[in-house]
Amino acid sequence: MEVSEHKVPRHIAIIMDGNGRWAKQRGEPRLAGHEAGSETVRCVLNYCRDAGVRYLTLYAFSTENWSRPQDEVAGLMALLGTFIQTYADDLVARQVRLRVIGRREDLPAAVRESLERVERATAAFERQLIIALSYSGRSELVRAVRLIAAEVKAGTLAPEAIDEAAVSARLYAPDVPDPDLIIRTSGELRISNFLLWQCAYSEFFVTPVLWPDFREAAFNEALTAYAKRDRRYGGVKSSEEQEASL
Ligand code: IPE
Ligand code: IPE
Ligand code: MG
Repeated sequence: MEVSEHKVPRHIAIIMDGNGRWAKQRGEPRLAGHEAGSETVRCVLNYCRDAGVRYLTLYAFSTENWSRPQDEVAGLMALLGTFIQTYADDLVARQVRLRVIGRREDLPAAVRESLERVERATAAFERQLIIALSYSGRSELVRAVRLIAAEVKAGTLAPEAIDEAAVSARLYAPDVPDPDLIIRTSGELRISNFLLWQCAYSEFFVTPVLWPDFREAAFNEALTAYAKRDRRYGGVKSSEEQEASL
């Protein structure tokens, strides 16, 4: 099915899950699954470009993932460093802005510096790749609350002025619209601390496909499912009727 243009999500966020199981099925170490998964990232960026998706957020490492065995964590950080280095020129050539959300201060200094170099080099581009690293929705909200508390204490923000917009404005990437579609691979039916504030009205799509196997057919299946959804935002009319009556 051709997906009509106005039904293409502006922002897709993906919980990239199942690398470990993919490796296990092949009798390989978990890290081999993560390596294969990084290849999927390249592919999905292309699919998003071709489909006209403007923002892609990838959940790459959660605050809870630090509790994994030390060799897996070290392997993931090394992989991330290599990925950024080999992919930096591509992002510039494709005119994609890289952004990192999460506790970037937790990342190894060399990885953080590479990421920040690419962030600076791509800052002017419109299409965005947002990578969630040492990220959790709760820690993002705690950070926002702390920022608000500091401003209230300094007398620059009145408690009565704290509303939804005030909280949104203090998230990691306040200018990025909420995700229209959240995809989770590997079949798990949970949010795992991802974009807790921003997912309020996101559509969910869960596929049993493991992240390293998530290729064009699986991506198109998600877009097709999204195009059939009726987003009502708590109202009674379909979003299409709402648009038509504007
Ligand atoms: C997702 O794959 C990648 C990260 C969380 C870093 P997993 O490593 O969680 O793979 P499974 O869930 O064990 O299969
Ligand atoms: C979620 O996957 C985090 C990322 C994809 C980075 P996990 O594998 O860590 O989540 P759980 O443990 O299954 O909830
Ligand atoms: Mg997992």
